[in-house]
Amino acid sequence: MAKSITHNREQWQSKWGFILASAGSAVGLGNFWRFSYLVGMNGGAAFVLVYLASVLVIGVPLMIAEFLLGKLTGLSIVSAFRKISGNRKLWVALGLIGVVASFVTLGYYAVIGGWVVGYLGQSLSGNLPRDPATADAAFRIFSTTPALQIVWYTLFSWIVATIVSRGVRAGIEKYNRILMLMFLMLLTGMAIYALTLPGAREALSFMFKFDASKITPLVTLLAVGHTFFSLSLGAGIMIAYGSYLPKKITLPFASIVISVIDVIVALLAGLVIFSIVFSFGLFPDSGTGIAFVTLPPLFAVMPGGTWLATIFFFMLAAAAITSAVSILEVVAVYLMDEWKVSRQVSTWGSAIAIYLFGLIWTANDITLVDKIAGGYLLVLGALAVALLVGWVVPLSNLAKLLQTKATHPVLRGFYFLNRYLIPITLVWLLLSGTF
Ligand code: PHE
Repeated sequence: MAKSITHNREQWQSKWGFILASAGSAVGLGNFWRFSYLVGMNGGAAFVLVYLASVLVIGVPLMIAEFLLGKLTGLSIVSAFRKISGNRKLWVALGLIGVVASFVTLGYYAVIGGWVVGYLGQSLSGNLPRDPATADAAFRIFSTTPALQIVWYTLFSWIVATIVSRGVRAGIEKYNRILMLMFLMLLTGMAIYALTLPGAREALSFMFKFDASKITPLVTLLAVGHTFFSLSLGAGIMIAYGSYLPKKITLPFASIVISVIDVIVALLAGLVIFSIVFSFGLFPDSGTGIAFVTLPPLFAVMPGGTWLATIFFFMLAAAAITSAVSILEVVAVYLMDEWKVSRQVSTWGSAIAIYLFGLIWTANDITLVDKIAGGYLLVLGALAVALLVGWVVPLSNLAKLLQTKATHPVLRGFYFLNRYLIPITLVWLLLSGTF
């Protein structure tokens, strides 16, 4: 099925364009708002170590698996699941989990994206909250006054939809190149600057002080859980991006590079945030509080603070846009592959539907939806991917795609992980409900 569509499918212009776009998806608000705090609260280096292990044995193999499914079928998640399973209803339904997860996640992700763009506007005009005592109230007013933030939410959603509507090369790849390269340069600059601050030492010890006794089952579950959100796995994103791949590409290499970029960005973001916060003798807040409540008044009193704030919120905006683009692409390409509508119709249609649905979070707390869509649904989606690759796709097919022999030890390891270790860990995570 869908032969004619796969035939004319767009492809990435270059290998690095594809790698940057996938890294752009992985690097997002999660790197700023989740990772650093998880590290700080869960034993510093102990968490970092468990997280690295989780990225290596669960994240990378799953990313390779998603790319493979896309490349193998030349289709997006639902159609790919349908094709590989021989049109079995159960697998089609499992594929839909990814589309639903993307739809719901983008709704609240874009609301936060709107806050970021709004704060970028405020830092450019020198209007960021300056007083620590009132920064919390200022943020609460900002984030609960629908009229105020609908402007920013609309702007953010429009930027994302415009990029996706232009297609794989002229939209997704082109803007990821621009935004990601700027992002990586600015973050490196900011991290070097952060090292000169008085709080840098404390920041480093907060993040890297190793305490082996802190490696507990809970920490392990938190680290594994964060892997999916951070690497954008389980929502069909990497399947879609994999379906635009030309024949010649080494997927394991690409997956490792993307994961390494994501981890390094998270560590540098933590270094920047904690160095500033500790320089003022404060304790880092969790979640969105760090960016919108704790940091703005600190920027206001730092030398060159207006610049720092502008760069900081620009980086967040770039990271949020490139991730949101990838999430919208899943829903858009689902409509293109399954319902055979044009890119314009599918992009704007899904963007408007998601926009209307997401309006809910311009006036409500996102904690629960983040747990359900950004936690449970992604893990369910990831479980389906692992089972499909580990149990349904014949090993000989995988070997052909990875241009190796079925007996190659790395391939056998990859197969084993997707067949046993990953599903078992994910079921453990789902049953524990640690999100
Ligand atoms: N990986 C992105 C981040 O860290 C968010 C994301 C989650 C993107 C799920 C796609 C799917 O912010």
